[in-house]
Amino acid sequence: MPKKALITGITGQDGSHLAEHLLSLGYEVHGLVRRVALEDPQHRFGRISHLLDRITLHAAGVESYPSLFHVFSRNDFDECYHLAAQSFVAESFDDGFSTMSTNINGTHYMLAALRDARPACKFYFAGTSEMFGKVKEMPQSETTAFHPRTPYGISKVAGFELTRNYREEFGMFCCSGILFNHEGPRRAFEYVTRKITSGAVRVYLGQAAELRLGNLDARRDWGHAADYVVAMHLMLQQPKPDDYVVATGETHTVREFCELAFAELGLNYQDHVKVDPLFYRPTEVEALVGDASKARSLLGWRPSYTFADIVKEMVKADLALASRKADPVGGSSLR
Ligand code: NAP
Ligand code: GDD
Repeated sequence: MPKKALITGITGQDGSHLAEHLLSLGYEVHGLVRRVALEDPQHRFGRISHLLDRITLHAAGVESYPSLFHVFSRNDFDECYHLAAQSFVAESFDDGFSTMSTNINGTHYMLAALRDARPACKFYFAGTSEMFGKVKEMPQSETTAFHPRTPYGISKVAGFELTRNYREEFGMFCCSGILFNHEGPRRAFEYVTRKITSGAVRVYLGQAAELRLGNLDARRDWGHAADYVVAMHLMLQQPKPDDYVVATGETHTVREFCELAFAELGLNYQDHVKVDPLFYRPTEVEALVGDASKARSLLGWRPSYTFADIVKEMVKADLALASRKADPVGGSSLR
């Protein structure tokens, strides 16, 4: 019998990569989607359109216990990957309440419905390096204390603690991945990496004169989403549930990302990138770099993409996308 997995957030960047990975391992893959997504499949299922005939979708709201219980009580899932979240940090400053509601209640309802309907199902929670916030040490590992600086980060600390609590209180197989930033051509346009690669392509094609960004000195540990979903799966294959940092161990500035992306198109970023205070955050996470030794030694996980590979792949993909569309790649004015 193939294993059955449920992915929430299957329409997102990670969800689409994870679905591909689990299908390649012979899993029966199910996805939880918002009912509203079914009304606009062409747009909402863009990242999974090539998988639609191989996966089963269930319409349910992560903020509705009854709708989750309904799905869990009718499907015998072996593994559940809870990726659905309001994941854009800048948005969480504008609307902290809905970020908290989706990310905290959504996780709590998922855990409670699983406990009540399928307590043996293994659970993965999408934790984040944003939980480290104002970092207490460099690099950050599983033992580094959290100090979140954003409503998003706070919501994820709550989700992390709920996940740990269900493991300890109810003996469920619940794991959190503390994943550092991971990117790729499926990244949404408002995140800085995609904003840079799509913006650089617009400049290259003469469709924009400049790209406006915020803090160029922020440092992130950027990996590739296709590598990171492999670690999510490995966590649920271990003898005991636990939490793991997933990171490359390298840190780069937003400025370095710009430099490489524009250079890929034969351009100098300094001629086109303008700093705009609009894109600064009220509280910034200045520098992140992860220590993934635990994932390396216990999961045997390591990243395959380098920083340069990621930038190259994203620029190339945006260039290809631009050549297929009249109004190529959007997003450069998004915060
Ligand atoms: P993403 O591309 O923004 O995808 C988010 C997913 O969550 C989408 O499928 C979206 O569905 C769904 N979602 C958002 N709000 C929802 C709501 N109210 N109800 C139900 N579904 C909702 O994010 P990602 O990059 O794949 O990240 C996946 C998870 O990992 C998230 O929990 C994120 O916080 C976490 N994470 C990401 C990174 C990273 O660097 N990518 C790092 C650490 C942790 P729609 O398509 O319907 O909007
Ligand atoms: N989005 C954006 N837009 N970020 C900018 C800009 C801009 O114009 N200019 C500078 N930045 C800086 C941000 O201030 C931040 O320091 C950095 O670029 C990265 O921003 P994002 O790409 O939006 O990602 P993030 O680090 O805030 O959050 C992502 O990674 C987290 C893991 O650490 C998201 O994927 C989160 O969901 C994830 O948890």
